[in-house]
This record gives sequence, C-alpha cells and structure tokens, in this order.
Amino acid sequence: MSDERELLFRTAEIAAGYLESLDERSVFPRVPIEDLAAALGGRLPEEPSDPLAVVEEMAQAVEPGVVATAGSRYFGYVTGGALPATVGADWLTTIWDQCAGLGVLGPSAMVVEEIVGDWLKDLLGLPAHASFALTTGCQMAHVTALATARHKILSSRGWDVRELGLVDSPRITVVAGGYRHVTVDRALRLLGIGGAQIEVVAADEHGRMRPDALRAALTHVMGPTIVCAQAGEVNTGSFDAFEEIVGIVRETDAWLHVDGAFGLWVAASPTRRHLVDGVDGADSWAMDAHKWLNVPYDCGLVFCADPTAHTASMTMKASYFEGQGKWQRDAVDWTPESSRRARAFTVYAALRSLGRQGVSDLVDRCCELAGRFAASVSELPECQLLNDVVINQVLFRFGDDATTNAVLARVQESGEAWMGGTIWDGRAAIRLSVSNWRTTEDDIRRTVAAFENALGGSGYSSAG
Ligand SMILES: Cc1ncc(COP(=O)(O)O)c(C=O)c1O
Repeated sequence: MSDERELLFRTAEIAAGYLESLDERSVFPRVPIEDLAAALGGRLPEEPSDPLAVVEEMAQAVEPGVVATAGSRYFGYVTGGALPATVGADWLTTIWDQCAGLGVLGPSAMVVEEIVGDWLKDLLGLPAHASFALTTGCQMAHVTALATARHKILSSRGWDVRELGLVDSPRITVVAGGYRHVTVDRALRLLGIGGAQIEVVAADEHGRMRPDALRAALTHVMGPTIVCAQAGEVNTGSFDAFEEIVGIVRETDAWLHVDGAFGLWVAASPTRRHLVDGVDGADSWAMDAHKWLNVPYDCGLVFCADPTAHTASMTMKASYFEGQGKWQRDAVDWTPESSRRARAFTVYAALRSLGRQGVSDLVDRCCELAGRFAASVSELPECQLLNDVVINQVLFRFGDDATTNAVLARVQESGEAWMGGTIWDGRAAIRLSVSNWRTTEDDIRRTVAAFENALGGSGYSSAG
C-alpha cells in the first residue's frame, strides 16, 4: 500500500499538471461519452485497490471528460474560476474534514465563518446587523432566505409556520419579476409556495422588473407578501432599480428578497456600486461565492436583516448537540443543513488573497473584458448585440436562429472557447459571461477569432 504522503504529493502533481494543461486543452472535451463510461465503469470491484493507483487511474480516466471551466476561455453560464489561495484552502478543508454544523465540531471553522460574514457585509455594504450563513449555492441561499421570509410574514399575522405548517395558513403571495431566476421558483416550491401564488411583474426589454408595475401589483395583493428582486439577470446582467423598489416595498409590510447570485458582487467595485444603490434596504440577499468571488464549487451566501426570524426558521435542537447555543455560532441554527463542509475557509482565503482592492479589480476586469468582447464581436457580419453590457454578461446573435445556433455550435466544437445558447425575445441567442480571474485580453481576442472562423465556415466573410 502507498503511504498517505506519497499519495498527497502525487495528487498535487496531477493537479498541477491539469492546471498547466488548461491553456492548450480543448475547452469542451472531445471524448465520446461511451469511452468515458468504458474507462470508468465495469462491475463494482470486489477487492480493495491500492489508494494511489485508484487516484492515478481515476485521474487518467476522468480528465479527458473534464470541461475546462477552471480555465480562461470558459464563458458558459456564470461559473467563475478558483483563485490559487482558494484551491489550497479547499484542499486543507478536505484534509481537516471538519463537519461544520456545530461549534463543537470545529471551533476554527466557526470562527472563520463569523469572520467572513462580517468581512462580506463590509465589502458589499450590507447592514452590519444582518445574519449570515454559507450554503451549497444560491439555490439553497434562496431556500434559507425565503424560509425566513415565510416565517416572518406569517408570524407577524399570528401564524407560527413551524408548528402549524401551511394548511389553513394565511395565503402567501410572491411578487417577482418576469425574468427572475428559475431557482427562486424552486425554492418557493420547496417551501410549499406554488406557481399560482407568484404574481409576475412585467419587465422591461433588459429584463428589469418595472417599478410602476410592482407598485400596481402591490396595491391589489392582500395578505402576507414576499417581493423578489434581482441584481444581475442571467442573460443580460441587468439590475432592478433597488432604490425605487425598496421605497415601494417599504410602503407595505412585504418582505423584500434579492437574488444577487453574481450581480451583487458589483457592490465591491467603487466604479460599479451605483448599479445596486439602495440594495442594502432589502430584507434578505442570496449570492454565490463560487461564481464571481472565484472560490471552488460549492459555496453560496445568504444574509438576512432579521437575524431573529432567520434563526427561528432554521434552528433545530437535539440533546446530543453538545454545547449548542453556548458557542459563538452553531451553523445548524442558520442553514437548512446538518452535517456540512467547512466552506468558510475558501471564502476566507479568497478575501485575504484579494483584499478589498483585489475583489474590486476582479469585478472591474471581468466587466471591461466583457465590454471589449462585445465591441469586437458586434463588428462581425450580422452580429446583433442584444444587451447593454453593464457588467460581465454579453448577449448576441447572428442573423436568424439557424445561423446563430450553427455559429455557436462551431465555436463550441472548435475547443477554443465555450459559452452557451439561450432564448431571448423568443429567438436564439448566445450568452457569454466573463467571471474567471484567469481571463485576459488575449483570451478575448482568441474567442473573437473563434467566432470569425465559425462565421467563415457558415459562408460569411470575416472581413466585416
Ligand atoms: C441570477 C441567479 N440566481 C440564482 C442562481 C442559482 O445559483 P446556484 O446554481 O449557485 O444555486 C444563478 C445561477 O446561475 C443565477 O445566475
């Protein structure tokens, strides 16, 4: 049997080799899925294997099917990358193997979680008294925040949802923009709030909730209400008008939740902070660290302006939870999870390695590169830019749907870069997101060149 030290060193070598291959490897893998399945599958082994051999063989079989999301020309979804300090911290998180559900299970994890909560509120300009928790992602951050909202708006009407559930409870209405993220709907569904309870507010052509339509909706909605606003629409990157929205919601007793999965990071940039002016007046905020902060998957963030409602909606107690309540923090009081990874270490590493200035630079650099890409790609024949590139998202198409899809497929197949398609205004479009610390101007040039080549292949001239 190999010893542990040898295994860790060899794993580090494999990891470094992978990172060094990022610039050259095809961004999307070319290996047929059947080959992956054949290399990795077969019958469940009956006998043990040498651990080092397992790691080496697994790495060899897995790597051909890995998408280079860690690299500098992956522009799909909004994936972010992983800063070097966060990779080191993530490895140590694995080695320490803390189960960060209770203070007694990991005092260091607890302390670091408290620290990153305070640092993030400071960085993002959120209220200092807000409560904070780490979740798997923005999806569960929504679940946490919306469970808190549900608890609060029902308890203020004398209904304790923890005891009484939702049967016969006052009917909750959720008022949300037409371009809200799908994870909001699923979070509501998990909380017993169905689609028929969502009042959809019209959005403008950028995907922003229209404040006048929100005001009109709130005048006829009766009973406990949650309003969901958004910082960063997933296609256009547009922002709801928070100052106006907060003012409108504050005329009622509704709860205001903000989906800021990636967009709320602009609050860390002095030059772009104005995009979220007023957002600190909301009641809860859901975000991701695994997107624009560039920590490895997975890591979501949730903040609530009402810590009492937050912990009331999440806490669970058991006699064997040693010292619960005596520690600075027991994460089971703040998240829907019990056993959980100590995610605070990677966030801490990101914030320490970048500092306030570094986070701001990362946000600004990604936005500037997105702007450059937009300027160059829109020079290409038949390219139509579909959004105001306010942050790091670029939305565009080429002529009709067939051309757009064909050009996108060619770029994806080229292996030079990868981004995904979407539907915008009922027609095919391409969406590109710059959210990785590794991306440079040269990557943007190479990506534009990949589009030029793809257009050449569809019979267009690349002369512009
Ligand atoms: C605006 C928005 N909200 C929520 C989410 C969900 O985040 P996660 O996949 O981390 O749960 C995303 C993911 O892309 C997003 O863009």
